[in-house]
Amino acid sequence: MNILLLGSGGRESAFAWKISQSPLLSQLFIAPGNAGTGAYGKNVNIKPTDFAAVKDFVLKNSVNLVLVGPEEPLVKGIHDYFLADSALKDIPVIGPQESGAMLEGSKNFSKAFMRRHFIPTAASASFTLNSLSEGLSYLETHKFPVVLKADGLAAGKGVLICQTLEEAQTELIAMLQDAKFGEASNMVVIEEFLTGIELSVFVLTDGHSYKILPEAKDYKRIGEGDTGLNTGGMGSISPVPFADAAFMKKVEDQIVKPTISGLKLDQIPYKGFIFIGLMNTDGEPYVIEYNVRMGDPETESVMPRIESDFVELLLGVANENLHEKELVVSPKTAATVMLVASGYPGEYMKGKAITGLDNIRDSQVFQAGTVLEDGLVKTAGGRVLAITSLQDTMFDAVQQAVTDAGRVYYDGRYFRTDIGFDLL
Ligand code: AMP
Ligand code: GLY
Repeated sequence: MNILLLGSGGRESAFAWKISQSPLLSQLFIAPGNAGTGAYGKNVNIKPTDFAAVKDFVLKNSVNLVLVGPEEPLVKGIHDYFLADSALKDIPVIGPQESGAMLEGSKNFSKAFMRRHFIPTAASASFTLNSLSEGLSYLETHKFPVVLKADGLAAGKGVLICQTLEEAQTELIAMLQDAKFGEASNMVVIEEFLTGIELSVFVLTDGHSYKILPEAKDYKRIGEGDTGLNTGGMGSISPVPFADAAFMKKVEDQIVKPTISGLKLDQIPYKGFIFIGLMNTDGEPYVIEYNVRMGDPETESVMPRIESDFVELLLGVANENLHEKELVVSPKTAATVMLVASGYPGEYMKGKAITGLDNIRDSQVFQAGTVLEDGLVKTAGGRVLAITSLQDTMFDAVQQAVTDAGRVYYDGRYFRTDIGFDLL
C-alpha cells in the first residue's frame, strides 16, 4: 500500500523510519519531509495545510492512507475535507476530524470535556473580554502561582505561570484586551497550578478500542537541570520509571477509558493519536492538556520501542479493528537527545552544514530541521536532529545518545547532556 505522511520534523522522521520497515508498504511519501526523510521514502514538496494540493497528490499517486503528523492540518479540518469529497472519502486519514481536534485546538473545550466526563484535571474557569472584570476579581481570591492559558493554538507559547496577583492581572489584561496571543487569547483559561512531575501518555484509538503506546518523559527547558526558556522539547526518555503498573492502571481507569467513552458519548468520531500531558501529583495523575497528535521529541523515543508492525496498527485504526491488532513493546529504554541551533528557542542560526552523520552507529538519527542544499545536509530549523539510542538500561541509553550527539557537528550546535538524569 502507499502511505502519505504529512509533516517535516523529528516526529515525522521517526514515523517514516518505522513505517518504512513494514512489509505492507509499497511506497511512502512524506510532505514536505526534511533532508533525512528521503532515506525512508519520497519527499514531496507540498504544505500539509494546502488541502487541494494534498488531494491532487493523493489521487495521482494512488495513496491508500494518510498519516497526519502535526496538529495544524487536523485543527483546520483535513480529515473533514477528505470525508466531504467523493473522490477522497474512502481514503483513511489517521488523525481526528475538527470536532475531535478541538481537544487541542481549544483549552476551554478540553476543560469542559474533562469536567463533563469526570477526568482528573486542575480546577479552572474561563473568561473573555466581556467578562474581564469577573476574571480580575476571580484572580483576587486565587492561590499563587496561578496558570493563565490562551484558549487557542499559540505555537506552544500560550501558557503563563504567574507568581503574583499583580502579574496575573496584568497578563490577563494583555491577553484579553491587547490580544497578546492574537485570536488565540480571545478567551483565557485560569487554572490552578499543579505540582509534581510530568509525563506524556500516548493512546492510539479507532474510536472504539484503544492501545496505550509506550509513555515518555519530555525535557522542555533549554538548559541543563531543566532551567531557562521553554522549548519544543530537548530530549525524551521511554519508559518512565515512575509510570509503573500501578500508576499506569490509574491513568487507564481514570483518564484513558473515560476519554474514549467521553468521545463516544459526545458523538465525536476519533481515529488517531491522543497525547495526554499528565502531572503525577503525589502518585495521582492529572491531565494538563490533550494533544491530538504524537509528541516531538517523544515519538523519537516511542517508535524505536514498538516492535509490532506500525502499519498494521494504523490499518487497525482505519478499519476500526484495532482490538484485533497486537502491540508488542520492547522492555529496553530509549533515550533521545535533541541537537538544536545556536539561539534556539529565540532567533536562531540557519544554513550551517552538518557533518559527522556517518559516524553514528549505535544510535538512530532522526533529522528534524534540515534541508538538502548542493548535496550538503544543512540546518534549517531550531531543532535540527534527534539522536535516539535504545539500550538495556537507561544509563547506557542516555550515555550512548549523548556520546553520539557529540559525533555530529555544525556551527552553533547545542544539546543537553543531562536528559534522563533526574530519573536515574
Ligand atoms: P501546555 O501548553 O498546556 O502544554 O503547557 C505548557 C507547560 O506549562 C506544561 O507542559 C506544564 O509544564 C506547564 N503547565 C500547564 N498547566 C499547568 C498547571 N495547571 N500546573 C502546573 N504547570 C502547568
Ligand atoms: N514535546 C511536547 C509536544 O510535542 O507538544
